[in-house]
Amino acid sequence: MDEDQIDRITRLPKVELHLHHEGAAPPAFIRGLAQEKSVNLEGVFTSNGGYAFRDFVHFLSVYEAATSVLKSPEDYARLTKAVLEESAANDVVYSETFLSPDFCGGGDVGAWREYLHAIKDAADEAERDHGIILRGIVTCIRHFGPDKAKATALCAAETAGDWIVGFGIAGDEMKGKPKDFAYSFDMAREAGLHLTAHAGEWGGAASVHDAIDDLGVTRIGHGVHAITDLALVDKLVENEIVLEVCPGSNVVLNVYPNLAVHPIDTLRERGVKVTVSTDDPPFFHTTMRQEYLNLAKTFGWDEAVFAELNDTAARAAFCDDDTRARVLKRLERI
Ligand code: HPA
Ligand code: ZN
Repeated sequence: MDEDQIDRITRLPKVELHLHHEGAAPPAFIRGLAQEKSVNLEGVFTSNGGYAFRDFVHFLSVYEAATSVLKSPEDYARLTKAVLEESAANDVVYSETFLSPDFCGGGDVGAWREYLHAIKDAADEAERDHGIILRGIVTCIRHFGPDKAKATALCAAETAGDWIVGFGIAGDEMKGKPKDFAYSFDMAREAGLHLTAHAGEWGGAASVHDAIDDLGVTRIGHGVHAITDLALVDKLVENEIVLEVCPGSNVVLNVYPNLAVHPIDTLRERGVKVTVSTDDPPFFHTTMRQEYLNLAKTFGWDEAVFAELNDTAARAAFCDDDTRARVLKRLERI
């Protein structure tokens, strides 16, 4: 593949479906807030100024420590501006971000509304300035347990609409079972929200079956371990379940030792609807452009493959159909 082709691929307009809001915070932004608020973030950063973590569970605790400096709706407005500037610089035209009321007001509906209002205002401003469209997925945190998830689902149900478009679950996939969260997912579904769940990143194929069967999700965060169960692969294809695959995240967290052995290409060839996202880009030293570059180089994917991925992502987006039509229009090559 020549340089021109690579260059065109990395600059394609992109749709990103799997992004953790705090996980997208540039480390310098978090460090700046910590200084302003005199919060001690010892152990959060490497000597090079990146985020420091050893493995997934340690990553989650560093993530929560970094998030502890975000203490007000105004902080989240500033975060949203920083995140969307970076996404827009990577040609992302539409993005869905995971937001957790646990971090935004401690699960209280009134406080959550204030955070959400500030985030939405900042997103509207970014849309005016950079053309990028953002929508939110309220996300409960698995290792905080099913009771906290119920409070989160209530926040989601109370604010469901044309901006909060989905409900999901993140956090430590090895804690509890999807079934434990069925009540919260039922509440979110009844409020009209679309559903996604992290599964098959740390858990095996059974965890993906469980997320589909017990939570009724139409998208799976990661889901890559489905590749070990070809009956599950067929189920994903038949039910048109979309995978939010985050290849760079999987390599940094050692789900796979390198991209060449990552199953995204095989899943795609078997007919699974795959999409590409960054997860927590500065934590994993990645960006959407970087992901596209790596995938093009490793698997020889051309522009047509990436156009198909983005089309899949736009069609699987949880937004309303008018917004989807606008996004599809932006994906048309000029
Ligand atoms: N995976 C699971 N939970 C998370 C992540 C992630 O990448 N980021 C923040 N919470
Ligand atoms: Zn994730």
